[in-house]
Amino acid sequence: MKGIILAAGKGTRLYPMTKPVCKPLLPIYDKPMIYYPLAVLQHAGIKDVLIIVPPYDLEQFERLFGDGSSLGMNISYKEQFVQRGIADAFIVGEEFIGDDSVCLVLGDNVFYGDGLKECLDKAQQNTVGATIFGVYVDDPRAFGVVEFDENGKAISIEEKPENPKSNYIVPGLYFYDNRVVEIAKNVQPSARGELEITSVNNEYLKLGALNVVTLGKDFVWLDAGTEDSLLAGGEVIRKIQAETGKYVACIEECSYDNGWISRDELHKLGKELEKTKYGKYIMNKL
Ligand code: G1P
Repeated sequence: MKGIILAAGKGTRLYPMTKPVCKPLLPIYDKPMIYYPLAVLQHAGIKDVLIIVPPYDLEQFERLFGDGSSLGMNISYKEQFVQRGIADAFIVGEEFIGDDSVCLVLGDNVFYGDGLKECLDKAQQNTVGATIFGVYVDDPRAFGVVEFDENGKAISIEEKPENPKSNYIVPGLYFYDNRVVEIAKNVQPSARGELEITSVNNEYLKLGALNVVTLGKDFVWLDAGTEDSLLAGGEVIRKIQAETGKYVACIEECSYDNGWISRDELHKLGKELEKTKYGKYIMNKL
């Protein structure tokens, strides 16, 4: 399975912060935002990752991850010159996906929870169709919202509905079989002019091939798209790390735990950051 991080958003809702630095490189507490979705792919055991970046920002991403080899991964990049919506990731990434299945994660989404790894493993094992998730939120109107029938089966997904049919929103983490490329190519732009991921999901629903996994209320999901959610996100991460003594989205640790890098390699990565608590955490892992 391949992984794509869609990190091409201009982040205009975060101006002026995102004028000089694009959104996925802004910090959430102590690390760049993009570490969080990258760690999700690592937890899913995905080594081959394409990062779709805004035009002319490629160098900054490369400075962070290079070709991914220091993390025991293969990371490549592609610029998205026209913002055509989330489903465009599969068109931009067509060559990268090849004949494989693919997991897409949005560059501003943070996931944390005890059952995360298990959920990701299950989604991966489901090789036919699509697996998406449902997260309970108080106000779902700004998101894709799932409607369930009385047996808990998903029957519709609506993008940013005024009158949501449930409180379960679809977060930015999606698993698809290879059909997604053709499905994305046939999506018509929505009223806001975007190739909506919700249209892709509805197509899988029509095919009877959409699996919606609801995540428990103790599960943490954040979308760091506004100044308030960015600040709140940083606070949540600070609190989790202080309480558990474990880092969220420590990508070096994830690679080590996956057996992709050796102890020596992990130590070297920690040493580069030794002036920080983050670096010391990595070095103390040994
Ligand atoms: C997008 C999707 C929406 C999803 C959300 C998750 O919204 O269109 O379905 O629930 O990401 O972050 P957007 O960021 O385009 O407002």
